[in-house]
Amino acid sequence: MKPTFYVTTPIYYPNDKLHIGHAYTTVAADAIARYKRLRGYDVFFLTGTDEHGLKIQQRAEQAGLPPKAFLDPIIAWIQDLWQKLDISYDDFIRTTEDRHERVVEQIFERLLQQGDIYLSEYQGWYCTPCESYWAERELVDGKCPQCGREVQFVREESYFFRMSKYVDRLLQYYEENPGFIEPVSRKTEMIRNFIEPGLQDLCVSRTSFDWGVHVPSNPKHVVYVWLDALVNYISAIGYLSDDPAQRAKFDRYWPADVHVVGKDIVRFHAVYWPIILMALGLPLPKKVFGHGFFLVKGGKMSKSKGNVIDPLTLVNRYGRDAFRYFLLREIPFGQDGTFTPEGMVERLNYDLANDFGNLVHRTAAMLNRFNDGVVPAPGALTDVDSALHQLAAEVKAKVDASMDELQFSVALAELWNLVRAANKYIDDCQPWKLNKDGDRDRLATVLYHMVEAIRVSTILVQPFMTEAPQVIREQFGFGEDAFTWDSALMGLGPSGQRVPEREPLFPRLDVEKEIEILTEMTTSAGEARADQKAENPAGASAKEATTVVHKDEIGIDVFDQVELRVGQVMACEKHPNADKLLVLQVDLGSEQRQIVSGIAKYYQPDELVGKKVVVVANLKPVKLRGQASLGMILCASEGDTLSIVTVPDSMPNGAIVK
Ligand code: MSP
Repeated sequence: MKPTFYVTTPIYYPNDKLHIGHAYTTVAADAIARYKRLRGYDVFFLTGTDEHGLKIQQRAEQAGLPPKAFLDPIIAWIQDLWQKLDISYDDFIRTTEDRHERVVEQIFERLLQQGDIYLSEYQGWYCTPCESYWAERELVDGKCPQCGREVQFVREESYFFRMSKYVDRLLQYYEENPGFIEPVSRKTEMIRNFIEPGLQDLCVSRTSFDWGVHVPSNPKHVVYVWLDALVNYISAIGYLSDDPAQRAKFDRYWPADVHVVGKDIVRFHAVYWPIILMALGLPLPKKVFGHGFFLVKGGKMSKSKGNVIDPLTLVNRYGRDAFRYFLLREIPFGQDGTFTPEGMVERLNYDLANDFGNLVHRTAAMLNRFNDGVVPAPGALTDVDSALHQLAAEVKAKVDASMDELQFSVALAELWNLVRAANKYIDDCQPWKLNKDGDRDRLATVLYHMVEAIRVSTILVQPFMTEAPQVIREQFGFGEDAFTWDSALMGLGPSGQRVPEREPLFPRLDVEKEIEILTEMTTSAGEARADQKAENPAGASAKEATTVVHKDEIGIDVFDQVELRVGQVMACEKHPNADKLLVLQVDLGSEQRQIVSGIAKYYQPDELVGKKVVVVANLKPVKLRGQASLGMILCASEGDTLSIVTVPDSMPNGAIVK
């Protein structure tokens, strides 16, 4: 029997259309699901919508519609979006479905009976857009600490969940399962911000509105939306179902292998959800991955700022493969990043049109020009062929390792090493010359290897792209056996098949025009051009600007581990074996050190002598092209410019920088 893999996205609030940030969560989960299927797992991939709560009730009232009538077209729009993005979910759950509501009711009553839920009175603050309760001390300037919006004071009879009872068991679970919350910084955040200050019992019902699951034994209470929503992960797969086939599904897939969520809702998934499951006596999910945010210039996307990026507009313009590739290639999964038009155009032009698309296009063209369109059988291999074989095997292993860690951008970067190496292989082997010289044997081997590199890359790109792989497969006549994940190694593919020429898969974009269109799309119109000019007065080319990746937040304790000191460059010369490196002798007050730095392109050795610089003094020593380097010199860089960070001459050597 196949091993199982259960992956979920959060269920989305259908109070508005979804934006590129929502698409990000879903495309990421889809890439995991596709990867695991390709690896032979029996995958269950769940997504859906979170349809109860005051916010939806208010929106429906504004629209003059009953909530369900207000919701249905939005849900249809969301499902259509997922279809356009080729999201391969196995089930889509709506919290307004009977199969879900009945489970929420039963769970609530059970927790009430066993004393985990008790009746009391809630007094405190509530943020309706976030559907979150906040204590007075948690507010920031009297506003919601999560979204910065107004909060309402609420005082009402409520049920509470005894969270505090389970804290020790939760911490023990964290300790015994170090991979439970990833990235690890989010675990630290959970412990520091929510558990250490003392986990409060959670208010789990409301009486001031109606739109939700009513508590059967006390129907004036509506179940808190988050308790309602989290239950979707088990109601969808048949927990407490009357149907034995559904219950068997639950037994098969639970516990979930990974809940993919944005960083803003890690708290609900990594603190409250495991506690609810403990109270129900159910096993806990294996992992909660809290990815970072897709930001736009000016911070978060919001309707009021007019900077919401509609995923459909991008898909319609660039195609779904390009959009999916961009989302997962651009930002390391787990970190925040800012969407820029330049970053997107650059990725599409360089990675897709120039590298991947070109590899496919030129290979088909050369097969047709030099061999009547037929893939020849290879002859004896030379060292360059073997090197490509080896690289492909290494890349596959690295793609597997990165995918298992949900590091999509790393997997794609590795894969593109193969794509680029294949293009270089063509440039080095010069099939046009082999053809001219009549070296048919060598030409056959080279053409075969070009096709093989395409086959391997295309198999490995399947978690990310859904259209191009099928087009390439059909064009190049790769049969089923030659398209399995395990067959993604050079030399296992067929020969003898005829390959037609086709239009390029990824057309090259006109950079200026595209940036203008994207800027228009992603910023409120007038502001956009003014901002762009202010930021880019010299008209810097698209190539220089890329997406900004923000690293994870760290505590001062982590920053404190870095020892920064003022140093003075006493001598500097070119590295004997590397054009890019300079070898500097730096005085740190109590000692003199050698530091090798990759700044030869920006400075002549003489220019640096006497300069006061900032040195990372506690970096592990390394050897760079045979020269010891004991530290690092801080530099600022942007595009093609770089400048060392200096301090005034009056600052003594060895002074601490912090
Ligand atoms: N309904 C809750 C989830 C309940 S799960 C039991 C919810 N819905 S949401 O529609 O607001 O958000 C859905 C997902 O989209 C979350 O993972 C959220 O973090 C993610 N994103 C929303 N905006 C985002 C960005 N700008 N960037 C990346 N992800 C973002 O929360």
